[in-house]
This record gives sequence, structure tokens and C-alpha cells, in this order.
Amino acid sequence: MNVTHEITTLLANELNEHLSPEKIKALLEVPKHNKMGDLAFPCFELAKAFKKSPASIAGELSIHIQPSPSVVSHIEAVGPYVNFFFNKASFTKEVLAAVQTKGNLYGGHTFGNGKTITMDLSSPNIAKPFSMGHLRSTVIGNAVGNILEKCGYTVARLNYLGDWGTQFGKLIAAYKLWGVEEKVRANPIQELLKLYVKFHDEAKEDPSLEELGRSWFVKLEQGDQEATELWEWFREESLHSFGSIYDLLNVSFDSYKGESSFHMQSEEILTMLKEKSLLEESDGALVVRLDDEGMPPALIQKSDGTTLYTTRDLAAAIYRKETYNHAASLYVVGNEQSLHFKQLRAVLKKMGYTWADEITHVPFGMMLKDGKKMSTRKGKVVFLDEALEKSIQFAKENIEEKNPDLNQKEEVAQKVGVGAVIFHDVKNDRLNDVEFSYEEMLKFEGGTAPYLQYTYARAKSILRKAEGVTTPYAFKEEDWEYTWSIVQKVATFPEVIKQAAAHYDPSKVAKYLLKLGQAFNSYYANVRILEEGPYLSGRLALTEAVAIVIWEGLSLLGIEVPEEM
Ligand code: ARG
Repeated sequence: MNVTHEITTLLANELNEHLSPEKIKALLEVPKHNKMGDLAFPCFELAKAFKKSPASIAGELSIHIQPSPSVVSHIEAVGPYVNFFFNKASFTKEVLAAVQTKGNLYGGHTFGNGKTITMDLSSPNIAKPFSMGHLRSTVIGNAVGNILEKCGYTVARLNYLGDWGTQFGKLIAAYKLWGVEEKVRANPIQELLKLYVKFHDEAKEDPSLEELGRSWFVKLEQGDQEATELWEWFREESLHSFGSIYDLLNVSFDSYKGESSFHMQSEEILTMLKEKSLLEESDGALVVRLDDEGMPPALIQKSDGTTLYTTRDLAAAIYRKETYNHAASLYVVGNEQSLHFKQLRAVLKKMGYTWADEITHVPFGMMLKDGKKMSTRKGKVVFLDEALEKSIQFAKENIEEKNPDLNQKEEVAQKVGVGAVIFHDVKNDRLNDVEFSYEEMLKFEGGTAPYLQYTYARAKSILRKAEGVTTPYAFKEEDWEYTWSIVQKVATFPEVIKQAAAHYDPSKVAKYLLKLGQAFNSYYANVRILEEGPYLSGRLALTEAVAIVIWEGLSLLGIEVPEEM
């Protein structure tokens, strides 16, 4: 914003021998309380150079600096801080003009231009239901991707399907023992899950089953026809069922290359590791020791010669660097896998890949049920497709009750129901565990997507009634309390995006939107927006800015926004 620029320049003129304008800009902060002004400059770092206390430096600066009253209305020294109070009217005009000219591009940045980021996200395991953990990876990953794109990056969304590994040997074994083709065709995911659960139950009594499962995986890796055909069938059914979930969530991917695409490269990886003398034998298996990094060894090959998760991930990581030449390679995966990604990076480094540092695990907490981890194996899961359906149904009932004449009810219900599920997932710091609760998810008020969607629809309905926004804007003195609280928030949207991108954390956007929504709703409750007169255009411009930012913010989170609700 120009105001910040102006203040920076003024400070720089006073401090030019001691601090650069860039440094000054970085030091400026937004005070926690309104009464401390709109921007504050802390003087701690100047104490040494001036041989004075920060408080007396602040006092002197506040007298020497004389900004134009059209930009800053007054300056005050409070302790070690110089507090600047903006000229509200001109700042507001500046912010509103920026939103109006940029429209949905408002809040964006260019620092990512020309750089590619790959994102490993969603990555569910085939032949299993789409789990809540994978939902978290999908929606958090998709939102992070959108936010990075808004900062100029090119983002490649990679769905690294879990479509290879010992578990498919077990599943093939289970299908051969107990599977009924018609049943699986009729209800593939549920039936395959049943077979998988049964296999684990029976294996407790009969350990020879584990051996049988392993031998089927050996066959699969060796390209055995029967094993391959069954595997292909399971994979196809799974992709089909995941596809309908991705459609509902409105997420798409640049690639579906999964683990199975990389098991063939295991030989190459083994050769490279051998050449660098990194492989060691341990109980018949091959490992890379990571003692010097304080980590347990990375398992590269099992004693039966089959490949492992880590081996395939090594091959996939190298492929990604070669294919996308990324500036960063993100893995949006639950925090229980953090050792795996540390090992992955460490092994790549030992192999001599300097770009290994570009690999960043973006972890998230677990989705719990009754305080406990969900387990597919024990059959203790909440099925995502059911959760989505329930949420959409609830949205439908809500609309029937409150606005039965609404146009395109089905479509709106879908946007609202799905939005509720997504928001429930992205609104908390991603590292926190989330207790799965229909009640929390389907509560269409307070800190939810439907609340924000409704706030947007309210703003749009006002704008429709008013037939357009005109300039110039003027602002009524008594309304400043409510107006200013919105303007401040709208002004920080670009910074919120930047922070969300820097921390790969969409919850920063979600929390911000809730605050903006609250500010607008109290504005709406206290100010007559549509009242004719000299202040109408200012109020409409403000309303439009709120609508634009809420729409854009929700879209970044992957949530669709109906025009009416
Ligand atoms: N399919 C794995 C799982 O569900 C997640 C894969 C994450 N990505 C990766 N490159 N390892 O646990």
C-alpha cells in the first residue's frame, strides 16, 4: 500500500545511515490494538547506534517526522514504538480502488513467477476406501496449491497413488481364497475392504497366510499374468470410485502416476546406491545406514527381493526433479510419516543430489474418531463418500426450511454441503489432530463455510438491489468504527496470502475470512448500507470489496460460492 511506502520513506530519510528502507519496511508491524494506531515502528534495533533508549528514540522520531496529513493523521510515541494513525478516508479509498481494479486478482503476488512447485497430494491407497487422512491431504494440498498459484508459482498436482506393495499380495491371496467375482463387481471397494480385513483376522490364527500374501506380491513384481490382471482390475475400480469423490471436491490432478510406475526403477536405484557404497546388508535385507543423521536405517530391499515404499519414493523423487525441475517438492502427507520423509531426503543427499533440500514434508494431524486413530484394518472408519452425502443432504434440508423458493437448490446444496466438509478440515492449524464430528461439520453457523457463503450471498444481494457501484466515495463519520474494521482486514489480504504460502497453511486464510465475515456482519447490523445520500457509493464499494475477498478466499480454499443462498 502507498501509505506504508510513504511511512517507510519518511523513516528512511531520518534513519538513512542506520537502516535501509527494506529493513524499515520489514520492521513495521500492525499493532494488536486499534488504539495503538494502524502501523508501528519498533525502535529496539536503533538503541546501539544512537546510544539512547528505544523509548527516547521513538519520542524524537515522532516529533521529527512530518507526514502529509492526507496520508497519516497523527503520530504518537508509546514506549519504544512510534505509532502511525492513518488518514482513514484516504487509506480506505486507496484500498477500495485496489480491490476494484484488480478484482479477483487482488491479494496476489508475483514472487513465484517462473518457478514450479510439485505437490504430492491425496495419494490414496487403491483397493481401500478413500480415508479421512486422504481427505485431509486432498483438501489441504489443493488449497496450498491454489495459494501458491496466487503467488505466481506454477503448481503440478501429483496424485501418487498407493498402488503397489505387499498389501496387494495379501489382497490377491484373499481374493483367491474367498473372493466372489459378482460381489466385487457390484460393490468393489467395500468388498475388497472386507477381504482385506478378513485376511488380517485369519492371519492371526494361521501365520502361513502372511507367507502366501508375500509370495503373491513376489509374483506381481515379477509380472505374473494372473496377479497383474487382478491388480489391474482392483486399480481400475478404485480409480473409478475415487473419481467421483474428486469430482465432488472439485479437485483435479496433473498426474496419477503412483507407486506402481516406479517399482521398475528400483534396480537402477539399487545400482546407484551400490556404486556409492551406501548399501549394507542387515538380516538379509538391504539398507542405507543413517546413523550419522541420528536416524534408523532406510530399508531399500526386503530379504525376499521385493521393493519397498522408500525405494519407490526415491525413484519418484528423482523423476520429479528431472521432469518438472521444481523449485520445491512438497509432500502433503500425515505427520506419522515424518521419519520417512526425513530419511528420503537424507538418502537423496547421500546419493549426491543437492536438490534434496527442496523436498519438504507438509505434515498434518490425524482425523480421530472418539479420540482414537481410525483403522481400515479394524474396520473402524468413517467413509468420506457417506460424510459428503450426509452434509449435502443436511444443506438441502436447511435450504428447504429457510429459502424454499431458491433457484438451483440442488446445485447450491452441493456447494454448501461440500464446502462445509472442506472448511471443517482446513480451518484448524494443519498440525492439529481433528476430531471427526458430524455435529461440528454440519453446524451451518459460526466458524463454517456456510456462514461465509451466506455472508457473500448477503453482500451480493445488497449489490443487486443497488444496481452498481459508483465513485467518488465519501464516508460517514459515525460509521468509521465499523467501516475501519473492514478496511483494515481487506487491506491485509495480500499479506495473509503471503503468510499462508510461506507456511503452507490454508488455515491462515480460513481464520482471516471468518474475521472479515464477522466485521461485515456487524457492519450490516449497524449501518444502513442502502440508504440514499452522499455516502451510498462508499458503502457499496466497501460491500463489493468484501464480496470479492470472500469469494476469492473461499475459492483458494477449494470451496465454491453460490451467488444466492
Ligand atoms: N499412499 C500413502 C499412504 O496412504 C501416501 C503417499 C504419500 N506420498 C509419497 N510420495 N510417499 O500412506
